[in-house]
Amino acid sequence: MQGQMADSAFVSASVRSPGIIYGTAWKQMRTEELVRTAIEQGFRAIDTACQPRHYHEPGVGAAVAACVRDGMSRPELYLQTKFTPLPGHDPQRVPYDPAAPPAQQVAQSFATSLRNLQTDYVDCLILHSALPDQDQMIQVWEAMEQIFHAGGARQLGISNCSDAASLQSLYRTAEVKPAVVQNRFYAQTGYDHEIREFCRQQAISYQSFWTLTANPRLLAHGVVTTLAAKYARSAAQILFRYLTQNDVVPLTGTTSVAHMREDLAIFEFQLTAAELEAVGSVL
Ligand SMILES: NC(=O)c1ccc[n+]([C@@H]2O[C@H](COP(=O)([O-])OP(=O)(O)OC[C@H]3O[C@@H](n4cnc5c(N)ncnc54)[C@H](OP(=O)(O)O)[C@@H]3O)[C@@H](O)[C@H]2O)c1
Repeated sequence: MQGQMADSAFVSASVRSPGIIYGTAWKQMRTEELVRTAIEQGFRAIDTACQPRHYHEPGVGAAVAACVRDGMSRPELYLQTKFTPLPGHDPQRVPYDPAAPPAQQVAQSFATSLRNLQTDYVDCLILHSALPDQDQMIQVWEAMEQIFHAGGARQLGISNCSDAASLQSLYRTAEVKPAVVQNRFYAQTGYDHEIREFCRQQAISYQSFWTLTANPRLLAHGVVTTLAAKYARSAAQILFRYLTQNDVVPLTGTTSVAHMREDLAIFEFQLTAAELEAVGSVL
């Protein structure tokens, strides 16, 4: 098995943050094969969710187990999964008792994740989206904190949190602070400038999704295409490299081996300060 942990952005809550993450949404029965391939190509961080509507978590577990059987040690991999509140589920396939109190839903979902992933801990447990009801939000986060304290999750995170004030409030009030924010990276939220600044200040790892699919204008922009020509890289590689040099950890869910290789190869070159500024000016 080849490859190594692709770059290391910074240490957060004693967990080594990966430089790039392989995402497993929408792969259904191809999940095991694609995750195995991604790990063989060199990915060391995998994102999934206990949300059967979009993710096949048991496929991720089967791939990880196969890699461990082949000699990889579990700590070489960074595995993160999510607790998805009820509105995010297909009502026919909720992986917990929908009538249970929120804390029990979290515990049941997490027990399913550990079973699916064939592991006794995850590197990060992410709340897929905040709950609008403040009481329920507190109960859910506290249940995640219990999992953290019991050693089931090495760190906690939150996703789809585009309101900086909500993130700051969670950070202020939580006993176990969010160590990861996973958000859509697109123009509609001003590319999360304020949230990313807060993450930088608090050493929270900011993970981006929709990075390529939501940004065709950016990928076609002259600033990006000129850099692509200069470095003999694709526009996607330039954007991913720009992000990793700006404390963003991109998720990539590519199904193509060629794209997997390209995504991992972003750590082979470096944009200059002036080039970073040029790309930043067209965001
Ligand atoms: N927290 C959330 O709510 C949430 C929501 C959405 C996604 N996610 C996570 O983020 C992951 C990534 O999802 P995404 O929405 O950003 O999109 P994605 O699944 O990564 O899709 C990227 C698209 O870009 C194409 N592509 C072209 N060049 C590429 C290159 N060099 N590298 C990678 N892809 C390239 C891919 O096609 P090919 O397959 O042909 O390469 C694919 O169609 C998901 O798997 C999931 O883990 C989380």
